Amino acid sequence: MPRPHVEPYVDRDFGFKKMTLSGMPNGIQYKTLSMDTDNGAVTMTVQYDAGFSQPPGFSCSEYEFLLMEGSVTIGDQIWTKGSYFYVPAGVHMPKWSSKEGALALIFYNFGPPSFQESDADHDDADDRTQLKMINSYEGLDWMMTARRMPGVAPGCGVKPLRNDPKTGASTFLYCMVPGFWQDNISYHDVAEEAYHIWGTSWMMQFGNLPTGGYFWRPAYINHGCFASEKGILAIGRTDGDLHNHFHHDPFSNPKENAERAAAVYARQRPAMYKWILTQDHNHVPHDFENPDDHVDPMKSGPSQMIESDGSHWP
Ligand SMILES: [Fe+2]
Repeated sequence: MPRPHVEPYVDRDFGFKKMTLSGMPNGIQYKTLSMDTDNGAVTMTVQYDAGFSQPPGFSCSEYEFLLMEGSVTIGDQIWTKGSYFYVPAGVHMPKWSSKEGALALIFYNFGPPSFQESDADHDDADDRTQLKMINSYEGLDWMMTARRMPGVAPGCGVKPLRNDPKTGASTFLYCMVPGFWQDNISYHDVAEEAYHIWGTSWMMQFGNLPTGGYFWRPAYINHGCFASEKGILAIGRTDGDLHNHFHHDPFSNPKENAERAAAVYARQRPAMYKWILTQDHNHVPHDFENPDDHVDPMKSGPSQMIESDGSHWP
């Protein structure tokens, strides 16, 4: 997903545009937060006008959806703020409508926004059993202890929403309690993305991120220390398995961070590291449990690195 580094960005500073993409229903306004210009994958803030209505149908690519204000009626069920959906590609949804209008985030992971009217799933639809529709505000408890080690500082809570079992890509709500602080610097081997539903946090490299603040951060970019005076509520996502690499050098660049991550990997999983080094560069690993997968990280990896001058690497 070669999206450029977007950070910080505050959607409240920009107006909505009318959605005019061919096939999309009327009554949608949007703000683009980040986009992969290779495949059209995009994250948007969307406003559904009062009286919005969309017939039954499906999207040609998967999407995730978080309702922040207002309500939408899907079929005969009313969904209020905090509602989170994961809709696989080609899986059809009943009629959508919004009497009062709604403000939401929508994440198209692998392709541009699309809509095709239909009463049934597409013949090649992804697995319908993966469809997920929950209210994340009312139906989940906060996990206030670190989910992984090394973990973030106490006072940062998480509600896991979705985890891709193959890639480890994840979507989650997170919060910082009032007075939260963390005094180290972190980076990851994957891209991460977040949007502030409410509240302001501060980060050493990028300053204050208020309500409506957003970032798409490619792998290996330093972020932290952190603080939040009054706390925040946010949604976060990664495009692969998240490992926290912590350190205290504010001047290290992404290439040095990647080098350090590889050194840790070589120490901790030496046999795998050695095996990788002995394969030729065009070798695509084969997974006997998922024989149809042909993932070449050099071409379609979950994230990309970025040089300190902003250019992409490799
Ligand atoms: Fe992070």
